[in-house]
Amino acid sequence: MDKKIVLLPGDGIGQEVIHSAKEILHAVAQEFKHTFTFESHDIGGTAVDLHGTPLPDSTVEACKKADAVLLGAVGGPKWDLNPSHLRPEKGLLGIRKELGLFANLRPIKGFKKLLPSSPLKQEVIEGSDLLIVRELTGGLYFGTPSERRENGNSVVDTLFYTRKEIERIVDKAFQAAMKRKKQLTSVDKANVLESSKLWREIVEEKKAAYPEVVVQHMLVDSTAMKLITNPSQFDVIVTENMFGDILSDEASVLTGSLGMLPSASLRDDGVGLYEPVHGSAPDIAGQGIANPLAMILSAALMLRYSFGLEEEAKLVEDAVQSILDEGYHTPDLKMESGVTVGTSEMTRLIADYIQTRNASSC
Ligand code: NAD
Ligand code: IPM
Ligand code: MN
Repeated sequence: MDKKIVLLPGDGIGQEVIHSAKEILHAVAQEFKHTFTFESHDIGGTAVDLHGTPLPDSTVEACKKADAVLLGAVGGPKWDLNPSHLRPEKGLLGIRKELGLFANLRPIKGFKKLLPSSPLKQEVIEGSDLLIVRELTGGLYFGTPSERRENGNSVVDTLFYTRKEIERIVDKAFQAAMKRKKQLTSVDKANVLESSKLWREIVEEKKAAYPEVVVQHMLVDSTAMKLITNPSQFDVIVTENMFGDILSDEASVLTGSLGMLPSASLRDDGVGLYEPVHGSAPDIAGQGIANPLAMILSAALMLRYSFGLEEEAKLVEDAVQSILDEGYHTPDLKMESGVTVGTSEMTRLIADYIQTRNASSC
């Protein structure tokens, strides 16, 4: 299979973990006789410095022509005081919008070996396996106009959704639930927000098309509590852009580290973008200790969703599981035993596993 992959390293550890994904994909290509061609483009703070904008047109064009896009992370203190149109994060929001990536799938499944690395009790997190379906191109992040008024003394951000925008993300979530345990939790703030009331109505209407799925509605504040007190009650969660952003970082605690969570940003047809849930981690950038697994697992999601390469995706996931089972981990995972390794060593261990494992099965 011949595929063209655009890499958007971005900033901070984004630049480091994208190398890991590339190395793993090289190993996969070699073992399965695929040809993956890589092209790197600038986004975020790096693009502000080089092109004067966080999202150059050339980056957007390249992504539109690609078979899939891998993104590291954007942002950092260097650009924190920039005006909003020159913030790295604007580049990320822009590429999601330009590519129409309205559905962000964030699977959260703890690896058994890492249970002790979570600050939560093992009996609480054991067996948790959930998928957050986050709406990605609407809601609070894309309200217009977002601005300061009265000489900067008042502000406006709007939470706007159309029926169509809610319907398509809710459909995606029902479809995901049908492939899993058929339980859907729709998370909102319908006791306060009008947008949440419409969201709830639409979920209720859609239920009829998916009679096998058991649906519950939950308010976002109590969901935040239940996610870490009884996470195994959840299968698929569907929610508004900002609620999904916050709940997914919280849910990463189940896995021991934010550096473990991959994601897929998708539309109905067309190019998909795969990105770790974490950011550019300025506190550890440049030290060679970033956990590359969220990025590598995002590459596995790309193999599965964009290329239909299930066996290859599974091999990457098995490799991650196996290397963790052997006790290797990066320093973000607080383990009492095992071997602490850096980004490149972790990547090499996984690449080696892919090469030897597949060779032995031939
Ligand atoms: P962050 O996710 O970058 O870091 C939060 C904490 O988790 C830090 O202590 C960091 O060291 C740790 N961490 C995150 N990923 C890790 C990994 N792979 N390995 C080891 N440790 C890891 O969030 P933040 O510090 O709030 O934000 C930093 C910058 O990143 C900001 O500019 C923010 O806007 C940006 N950001 C970007 C994205 C993205 O590009 N998708 C996501 C979140 C935040
Ligand atoms: C994420 C990030 C982004 C978001 C930021 C950097 C704009 O936190 O991908 O979760 O909030 O969507
Ligand atoms: Mn986030």
